[in-house]
Amino acid sequence: MARVETTSSRPYHLVIFGASGFTGQFVVEEVARTVSEGPKGDLKWAVAGRSKQKLEKVLEQAAGVLGKPELQTEVDVILADVGEPDSLAAMCKKAVIVLNCVGPYRFFGEAVVRACVENGAHHIDISGEPQFLEGMQLNYNSQAAETGVFVIGSCGFDSIPADMGVIYTRDQFRGTLTALESFLTISTGPEGGGLHEGTWQSAIYGLADRPNLKSLRRKFNWKPLPIVGSKLRHRGALFHSNEIQQYAIPFMGSDPAVVKRTQRFLAEEHQDTPVQYGAYAGVGGIGSVIKLMFAGMMFWLLVKCACGRNLLLKYPEFFSFGIFTKAGPTRKQMEGSSFQLSFYGEGYTDGQDPAQGKPNAKIRTRVQGPEVGYVATPIAMVQAALTILNEPAAMPKKGGVYTPGAAFAKTTLINRLNKHGIQFSVLMRVDGVLVVVFSG
Ligand SMILES: NC(=O)c1ccc[n+]([C@@H]2O[C@H](COP(=O)([O-])OP(=O)(O)OC[C@H]3O[C@@H](n4cnc5c(N)ncnc54)[C@H](OP(=O)(O)O)[C@@H]3O)[C@@H](O)[C@H]2O)c1
Repeated sequence: MARVETTSSRPYHLVIFGASGFTGQFVVEEVARTVSEGPKGDLKWAVAGRSKQKLEKVLEQAAGVLGKPELQTEVDVILADVGEPDSLAAMCKKAVIVLNCVGPYRFFGEAVVRACVENGAHHIDISGEPQFLEGMQLNYNSQAAETGVFVIGSCGFDSIPADMGVIYTRDQFRGTLTALESFLTISTGPEGGGLHEGTWQSAIYGLADRPNLKSLRRKFNWKPLPIVGSKLRHRGALFHSNEIQQYAIPFMGSDPAVVKRTQRFLAEEHQDTPVQYGAYAGVGGIGSVIKLMFAGMMFWLLVKCACGRNLLLKYPEFFSFGIFTKAGPTRKQMEGSSFQLSFYGEGYTDGQDPAQGKPNAKIRTRVQGPEVGYVATPIAMVQAALTILNEPAAMPKKGGVYTPGAAFAKTTLINRLNKHGIQFSVLMRVDGVLVVVFSG
């Protein structure tokens, strides 16, 4: 296929597809807040979806929230439906980048990726579904490379903080970082918190289809990534973490799979040392552990059959102990919520051979930020898009299907995120016998 032009002479730098969704509405607000960060201080953008009425309502709401009445008259509305390929093609021809918020991606994502690749628009999504993300890599990487299109998946809370957090920690380490563990903790205010059912649906279908992920991965014919330095041991299914002083479980989202793909890319393309990675999430005290075990058991039993899945889909609030709801969290709940991702890394100082002996240096870093689903995710997604627009020379030379870390390792995305409240910091370094503790 001939190379397709992806230029800023298109009518819109950004088109937000699925702007009427629960997450989409907050992406609209984030784009409206950051227009001055576009190329030459300007950003041309439009909203897209299948219902004109809903899209106009989202613009009206954003105009009210942000005190920008002009949004209602100046932002264009594009009608496009995943089931109508011509409408997707027409949308993609108008955009430099499509910000795709239509999920679950396993059902709706591929048609949009295809339309972007065929019509020369970069594609950014916030999928946390490894089957979709890796399926797109398998099916569209070569075509996207030929057409010069970037398809960059998992640009929301899943998995920018983790994937860029690994790169940040590696870059801050003095020597060779060989292993890293992260521990996620979420805080909520007096009003509590939660997530919209859209993410619940993606998780249900993703877990039900997990066996197919193995056969998908076999098709890549990947060689195992070399283990450099001491092997990182996997913790159990449930353990008490001294790092975060609470019970923890392996993180169930896409972070480990995304980080691994990034590390593979960096090792194969740039001969970087791959960092071994383990991701864990804090659960809380013993009461939360009991609740989680009960909910987890019910989930695993029900997710396996269609009737069980229907029950889970129908009653998200009941089966998730109130975490996932049809209404989604309120703005007040979002304001009171935040996350911390604490990284504990080890490796070898310069001059120490990772093939010989134990690691002799440690590092602690942290990524922290606001509410994960509808504040941090839109910030991460929009900053990823602004990075493509503003820093083309720092992006990979070829188009293709990329993870955030693979696409943005050489850009200033981390600085951009820092300025928008997703903060990366070094807390402590132990180099040989020298301990350096940082505040914060
Ligand atoms: N990475 C992260 O951390 C993160 C955070 C938040 C969300 N997410 C993901 O984002 C996705 C969306 O979640 P959500 O809670 O926002 O879901 P949602 O509220 O159900 O929104 C879905 C959107 O898709 C649109 N849509 C559905 N079918 C369509 C079709 N045939 N053609 C065009 N548009 C169509 C809907 O349009 P209508 O309004 O017309 O129905 C709506 O705009 C999920 O996959 C979720 O997992 C990820």
